Amino acid sequence: MARVTRVALVTGAGAGIGAAVARRLAARGDDVVCVDRDPAAAQAVAAQVGGLAVTADVAAAGAGDEVVERAVERYGRLDVVVTSAGIERTGAAATLPTDVVRESLAVNVLGSYDVATAAARRFLTQGEGGRVVLVGSVNSLRALPGQAAYATSKGAVLMLARALAVDWALDGITVNVVAPGVTDTAMSAGSLGDPGRRDALLARVPMRRPARSEEVAEAVAFLSAPESGYVTGVVLPVDGGWSAAG
Ligand SMILES: NC(=O)c1ccc[n+]([C@@H]2O[C@H](COP(=O)([O-])OP(=O)(O)OC[C@H]3O[C@@H](n4cnc5c(N)ncnc54)[C@H](O)[C@@H]3O)[C@@H](O)[C@H]2O)c1
Repeated sequence: MARVTRVALVTGAGAGIGAAVARRLAARGDDVVCVDRDPAAAQAVAAQVGGLAVTADVAAAGAGDEVVERAVERYGRLDVVVTSAGIERTGAAATLPTDVVRESLAVNVLGSYDVATAAARRFLTQGEGGRVVLVGSVNSLRALPGQAAYATSKGAVLMLARALAVDWALDGITVNVVAPGVTDTAMSAGSLGDPGRRDALLARVPMRRPARSEEVAEAVAFLSAPESGYVTGVVLPVDGGWSAAG
C-alpha cells in the first residue's frame, strides 16, 4: 500500500525554532502548514518548505479549529501538531502587571491547549492516532529571577502535556514537550547580544553555548515520528546540560 504523506501543522513557524521545525519536517517528507501571526513570516517559511501559510493568532478565540480546518482543507488530513508560538515577558514579580501574566498564559498555555485539542479532534476522527509536541522551555523545569510570567506559563505547558498524554493514551495520540535552553533566535537576541547578559546566561549552561534552532528541531522530529509511538507525557530538554546541572 502506498504510504500516505504525513501532514504537520507548526505554530510560530514564521521564525526561530518553529521555522527550523517546519524545515526539518518538510525535509523528512511531511506536508507542512506554517501558522504564524506574522503573515509575511509565515509566507516566507511556507514558500521555503513548499507548504501552506496560515495567518493566525493562537491566542484568539477559535484559532485552533480554524487552523486545523485550513490544514485539512488543503491536505485532507493531519498527523502532527507542533506548538512553537510563544512569547517571553520578563520583569520583577512584585511590579509585573497581572495583565502581562495573563497575556503569557493566553499565548503560551491557552494557545497550545486550543491548537492541540483542535488537532486531537481531527486525529480522533481519522482514527489513526497522532503526534503532539509542545514547545516548553528549560523554564518548564527551572526558574530564573524576573520570570514569574514566563516560567509559570512554561511550567503549565509541561503539565498540560502530561494531562493530554494521559487523556489520549488509548487513542494512539502521543503528547510530549521539547524544552529548549537558551536558543539562538530573535527571542533571545536581547540577552545573547549583550556581552554581560550573555556570559551570565551561558554560565548556567554546561556546554557554554546556545542551542541552534536546528538542534531543537531534531528533538521535535523524533517525538513527532511515527516510530516514537510509545513515548508520551515526557519532557525532552535540549539545553546543553542546564537542567542536568540543576
Ligand atoms: N529562544 C529561546 O532561547 C527559547 C528557549 C526556550 C524556549 N523557547 C520557546 O520556543 C518557542 C519558539 O521561540 P523562538 O525562540 O523561536 O521565538 P521567536 O520569537 O524567534 O519566534 C516565535 C514565532 O512565534 C510567533 N508568535 C508569537 N506569538 C504568536 C501568537 N500569539 N500566534 C501566532 N504566532 C505567534 C512569532 O510571530 C514568531 O514568528 C517559544 O514557545 C519559546 O518560548 C525559546
